[in-house]
Formats: sequence, structure tokens, C-alpha cells
Amino acid sequence: MWFCPKVMLLGILLLGSCHGDNCPTECSCSTLALGKLIIDCSRRELQKVPALPVATQELYLQQNQLSTIPPGAFEHLNALRKVNLSHNPLHCDCTLRPLRSWLDTEGLDSGAVCLTPPALRGKPLALVAPGQMASCLGPLTLCSHFLVTDAFLFLFLLILLLLMFLCLRTFQGMKFRIRVNESEMRVRNNWSPVIGSLKRRFLASVKSS
Ligand SMILES: *[C@@H]1O[C@H](CO)[C@@H](O)[C@H](O)[C@H]1NC(C)=O
Repeated sequence: MWFCPKVMLLGILLLGSCHGDNCPTECSCSTLALGKLIIDCSRRELQKVPALPVATQELYLQQNQLSTIPPGAFEHLNALRKVNLSHNPLHCDCTLRPLRSWLDTEGLDSGAVCLTPPALRGKPLALVAPGQMASCLGPLTLCSHFLVTDAFLFLFLLILLLLMFLCLRTFQGMKFRIRVNESEMRVRNNWSPVIGSLKRRFLASVKSS
């Protein structure tokens, strides 16, 4: 599992580079002073956080179907002053831990409330202790699809090696067969003068009798 943090970091970096500078198509935006943006994505039935521009100052994501917020979804929004995550069916497992601590350090009240797990139902995310969100497999969940891909690659490599091995063996067999044929030919050539003289002697004896 040592590679998981690296893979996650790469994923987060890639995710970061995917964030555009424009208004997300799912949302409506208005411009503030200095090019800062108010992004209103509320009541859009969203199941995923859209790609958000760096200039986002106010972000409204309330009343959607967000069950989770990927780690690092908001970290690049250094102009963010307001975020509303209320009325979303949030699953408060360890995936939300980075979000929780980030909101805390930024001093933002998002209004996020947990729906699941049952023990945390109705509890504001800001009041959930990080230890209470430890019950998921964390990096394993995030990396499991990388592991599956790795397994497939490994299997593919194994099949390739097997095919190479079979190929090599077939070639070895072919070499062997050719050598046998050559030696057979040599044997036949060695015997043909003997057979010829025997034939001649036989014919001569038949003629003389
Ligand atoms: C978030 O939006 C809801 C309306 O959906 C509002 O009642 C609530 O006060 C807002 N919370 C914050 C922190 O802005």
C-alpha cells in the first residue's frame, strides 16, 4: 500500500489541473469586484462537485444530492469566503475528514449535516470529531480501483510471459525437428551408393544365371 499516498497525490494534482477558470455549466455565476465569482449551484440535483474556478468567492452547493466531497475539492479556492453545503445527503466517513479540517482552519461555516452513517445522522459535520469518521478503509477505498488496474496489468504481463515461453519452446522444437530431418537425409545419402551397388550386383547375377 506504500504507493497509495503517491497515487492519491497524483490524482489530486490531476484533479487540480482540471479545474477551469469559467463558470461550471451546471451553475449560474455572477462577477464581483476584482473578477471574483459567486457560484450558485444550489438545487441542481448534483451528485458531484463541479469543476470550480479559482476565483470563486462564494459557493452555493446547498440542496443537492452530494453524498461526498472528494478530498481537495475546495483547497485551491484561495478566494473562498462563503460555502454552503447544507441539505445534502452527506456520508460522513473518513473521506470527509480533509474537508472537515479544512473548513475548520478556514473558519468557514458550511452548514454541512451528516445523513449517514446512522450514528452521525443529523449531526453537523463541524461537530463530528475526526475520530468518529475513522470507520472506513480510507486510502484503500480511494486506491482500490488502482489496485484492480494493477491486478489486470499484472495478469496481462503474466499471460504475455507465458505466450513468450510457449513461443520459445515451439521454436526450440522446430530447430530440433529440422536437425533430425537433416540427419535423416544424410543417412539416406550415405546408404544410396551401397544400395546402388547391391542393385547392380543383383541384376548382374540375374543376367548371368
Ligand atoms: C445555506 O443555505 C440555506 C438555504 O438552503 C440557508 O438556510 C442557510 O442559512 C445557509 N447556510 C449558510 C452557512 O450560509
